[in-house]
Amino acid sequence: MNVKKCNKMSALTDRVVLVVGATGGIGQAVVEQLQETGAKLVLAARSSDRLQALAAQLPSSVTVQIQPCDITQPQQVSELMQAIRSEHGQLDVLINAAGAGLLKPYQKITAAELDQMLNLNLKGCFYTTQQAAELMKEQQQGHICTVVGILGKHSMAMGSAYCAAKFGVVGFSKCMAEELKRYGIRFSLFYFGGVDTPFWDAVSLKIDRQKLLRPATAARFIRAALETDPHAVPLELSLMPDSHVFF
Ligand SMILES: NC(=O)c1ccc[n+]([C@@H]2O[C@H](COP(=O)([O-])OP(=O)(O)OC[C@H]3O[C@@H](n4cnc5c(N)ncnc54)[C@H](OP(=O)(O)O)[C@@H]3O)[C@@H](O)[C@H]2O)c1
Repeated sequence: MNVKKCNKMSALTDRVVLVVGATGGIGQAVVEQLQETGAKLVLAARSSDRLQALAAQLPSSVTVQIQPCDITQPQQVSELMQAIRSEHGQLDVLINAAGAGLLKPYQKITAAELDQMLNLNLKGCFYTTQQAAELMKEQQQGHICTVVGILGKHSMAMGSAYCAAKFGVVGFSKCMAEELKRYGIRFSLFYFGGVDTPFWDAVSLKIDRQKLLRPATAARFIRAALETDPHAVPLELSLMPDSHVFF
């Protein structure tokens, strides 16, 4: 089958899609899904080398811009948005897939660890969402997808700092969604259970990674939400591995 003809069938063809955390386990899987759609990709994370390596793996037919950015720094997020404006003049989709894990007993969490959780998982996500929305408002449409995780709506022992950040993400996202719906900006929040990515390398909790979701499974779920009817809003989407299902 002609690949270009196939691309034209996607709702994402020629859409500018920013993936923040593009080099992560979930982010990379999303990029792999989106490369088939004809979307114009903007890849962001801190490590320039890893962004370049990821971009080099994409077929030459894919339009890709890489932009190193530390989302805990609002000035860098602003520079990221300016770079997108200069290159494309628009931003259609933001995928928030940057973050880190911390699961340990509440009394062992240091002030520095709490700061890191809130700065990255809560405030960093706030900055990207806030600033992407300004670009989207001008075009009166946009889709903001945030990989929250199931610990954005369920509690878990040892999740106090992580849940504090993730519950906060849900809170601000729902408020912004109310404020931005009149501009045609849709929000989707993804509540994944465990996904087998490098996220778990830094978490001192014994888990059977074979029982986690595959990153490709999570990414296909995100792609389906992005390709849904433009008048439909896939608001809150949960996907759990069958080994641990929350209701
Ligand atoms: N894995 C899971 O089980 C799971 C489940 C539910 C939800 N989530 C959430 O999904 C998101 C992605 O997780 P993942 O599993 O893909 O993690 P991952 O494989 O560890 O990837 C994390 C990504 O975030 C980027 N990043 C880290 N700090 C950053 C910063 N200050 N500025 C910009 N980018 C930064 C990393 O790149 P650099 O280091 O180069 O910056 C990397 O691209 C996180 O928010 C996580 O909480 C994960």
